[in-house]
This record gives sequence, C-alpha cells and structure tokens, in this order.
Amino acid sequence: MLKITYIGHSCFILDDGTYRLIIDPFITNNSLATVNTDDVKVDYIVLTHAHGDHIGDTFEIAKRCNAMVICINEIGHYLDDKAIKNHKMHIGGGFNFPFGRLKFTIAHHGSWTADSGELGNPAGVVIKFGGKTVYHCGDTGLFLDMKLIGELDKIDIMMLPIGDNFTMGIDDAVIAVDFVNPALAIPMHYNTFEVIEADPHEFVGKVSAINKKARVMEFGETIEF
Ligand code: NI
Ligand code: MN
Repeated sequence: MLKITYIGHSCFILDDGTYRLIIDPFITNNSLATVNTDDVKVDYIVLTHAHGDHIGDTFEIAKRCNAMVICINEIGHYLDDKAIKNHKMHIGGGFNFPFGRLKFTIAHHGSWTADSGELGNPAGVVIKFGGKTVYHCGDTGLFLDMKLIGELDKIDIMMLPIGDNFTMGIDDAVIAVDFVNPALAIPMHYNTFEVIEADPHEFVGKVSAINKKARVMEFGETIEF
C-alpha cells in the first residue's frame, strides 16, 4: 500500500502504513500549503537539493520527529554542523533502507544555501516504497538521460516540475513524461511564486494528448495506490 499526500510545491509525503517519508519539506514559508508543519510526523526526510524552497522546514521536522535526512553528501556535512541526523549518498548510488531502496539521479539545476554557499550537485530520486516505484525529479531542466531512468526502473509515479523559469516548463515536462513513461505523472513546482505560475491542467491535457496519464493533486490531497 502506498499513500501519497501532496503538501504543495515539491513536497510530498509517502506513507506505507509502517514508514512515513517526506520529500523537500517546504511548508511554513509556502503560502499555498494547507498543512501545518507541526502536524507533520515522519521517519525520513529526503532532500533533492539545498535551495530554501526544498530544505524548508527540515531542521524543525528532523529534530521534533528524530527523523533521518537522506541527502547528497555535501548537504549531509552541512547538516552534521547543525546536529541533524543524516544518511549521505550521491548520484547513481542506491541504498536499501527499511522502507525500500532509494537511489539518487542527476538533475540539471543548482544547490546552495545563503549560510554555506554551494552544496554539491542537485538531484532527483527514485524511491521504492509501499510496493511502488516513485521518481521525484527534483528541480531540473529536461534531459535525455530521463529515458535511462525509465528503462532502469518501471516508474509507477513520476513527480515533475512544470513551473518554468527555474525548471522545466509545461512543454518540456510533457517530453519528460514521454521519456520516462510512468503509469502516472503528477505536476509540481508551480504557482508557489509569481515567476513559476503555470496551469497544471494544461499539463495534464498535453500529457493525455500523447496517450499518457497525468493528474493534478490538490494541495493537501492524499491518494492511495
Ligand atoms: Ni531549486
Ligand atoms: Mn525549487
């Protein structure tokens, strides 16, 4: 069983009934989020990169829940300095966690914090969880190697940015869905800020036009697979 809750922006909670994992927990400073950070209870936090709209409430949630942060090596050392428990990984490497296997992929983007500067490479992540395989692209432009990601694993659910400006826009995101061929694509990273305004229903329509399946998740909505 896999339950996915979309908090907003790039933040999702995965729940298999035993483990709860949050990806890119940007909640408090996301005016569109309908969930209170204090209500988030998780065992793991996965970070795709260090930008503020992805690290978000990581410190608070990690400390309150005693949650393990799974992240790229350089971010892990940054978290060590702040006494946050973490598991360091890097692109192309996988690890078998109690919930399932998790592997970081490439992403074309940056990774930086104001107090630490550059923090290694940005990433996407493929997570086997609750009997499904989820590919969260992180922040990225379109890249041809997405075809390889879709060949290495049969992707059940793909979460991908459509907001343009910092990441893929709708038209490139539709090509990304074509490359990866997931059973279901879920758009993310749109409308949080003025420069990333995009219509997720336009994305869904264009994905349907290439005979693939996408669906908009409302902020705070949970779906079960
Ligand atoms: Ni970013
Ligand atoms: Mn971002």
